[in-house]
Amino acid sequence: MSPFQLTRTLPEDATDADLRADVLHGLTRMPKELPPKWFYDARGSELFEEITRLPEYYPTRAEREILINRAPEIAAATGARTLVELGSGSSEKTRFLIEALLPGLDSYVPVDVSESALTGAAEALLAERPSLHLHALVADFTRGLALPGTPGPRLVAFLGGTIGNLLPAERRVFLRSVRAMLAPGDALLLGTDLVKDEATLVAAYDDAAGVTAAFNKNVLAVIARELGADVRPEDFDHVAVWDREREWIEMRLRARHALTVKIPELDLVVPFEAGEEVRTEVSAKFRQAGVRDELTAAGLELSHWWTDEEGRFALSLATAR
Ligand code: SAH
Ligand code: AVI
Repeated sequence: MSPFQLTRTLPEDATDADLRADVLHGLTRMPKELPPKWFYDARGSELFEEITRLPEYYPTRAEREILINRAPEIAAATGARTLVELGSGSSEKTRFLIEALLPGLDSYVPVDVSESALTGAAEALLAERPSLHLHALVADFTRGLALPGTPGPRLVAFLGGTIGNLLPAERRVFLRSVRAMLAPGDALLLGTDLVKDEATLVAAYDDAAGVTAAFNKNVLAVIARELGADVRPEDFDHVAVWDREREWIEMRLRARHALTVKIPELDLVVPFEAGEEVRTEVSAKFRQAGVRDELTAAGLELSHWWTDEEGRFALSLATAR
């Protein structure tokens, strides 16, 4: 068998029913919203990688610090032979985990909606580790996954704090679906960004170089390309606000003036008032008790909680009961 297989469970053409349904639903409701998964075409995936290197964007560096320090403990606790990673992106930090899991590790199964991110990551990994079985899945992790029949124990990693991009009700459904991927004794490794002071949080989502603004506006480029929308990024401002009650960052796009967006593929004309906003992402920040409760509710038991030295970000290891 070739060490690299790529399986696609999403339609080839990104102008699929999902994007149409999300745009139709999201831009005809009040307030307007779009799901964050549409940021990640090839350009959006590149912009996210650029975000991870920004001085203001601490989560990637903090999580890498934890992984470097704790990968041997994670390997010893799980003895995983298959590592499944949801929303794997470039798999850059995952290398530390893979190194620690070897030589027992048989297969690495990265799952992402971004095919360009998956192929880029696979090429880099295979150059270093030609004997690793790599089974990449182009799939939406919120839609139930058909995982390949690789050997257990299985460790599912969900890093970067991407769980915070799901709303609380979506997280409940999602964590139950993760539990359903696991046999008793298998484990979940979960990265969560932590609640901290507002200035640090807002700066991480509104950087001085404007990379996060470009990432946010990339969803408009996706809609323009895939659905023929006549939307112009320069008509919108990037907005990042901290919601202290719900303890999440919201990214929005705010219309600079009154305008309409025509979307011929949907036979739709969307009016915007001056200053009207579209919510494009929530990024929830967590506390230990909340993470434990959400895991418990899904049938997962928190066994380890590790943070970086500065206590900005946490990695949780949980086992399936
Ligand atoms: N885990 C990496 C990347 C995080 S960026 C890191 O920690 O740096 C979030 C990743 O999740 C992107 O690669 C994006 O394409 C992917 N993603 C977002 N929504 C998704 C979904 N619904 N299903 C599968 N992948 C998704
Ligand atoms: C992928 N996810 C965890 C990022 C976050 O921080 O919520 C996406 C992102 N949005 C703006 N910057 C980064």
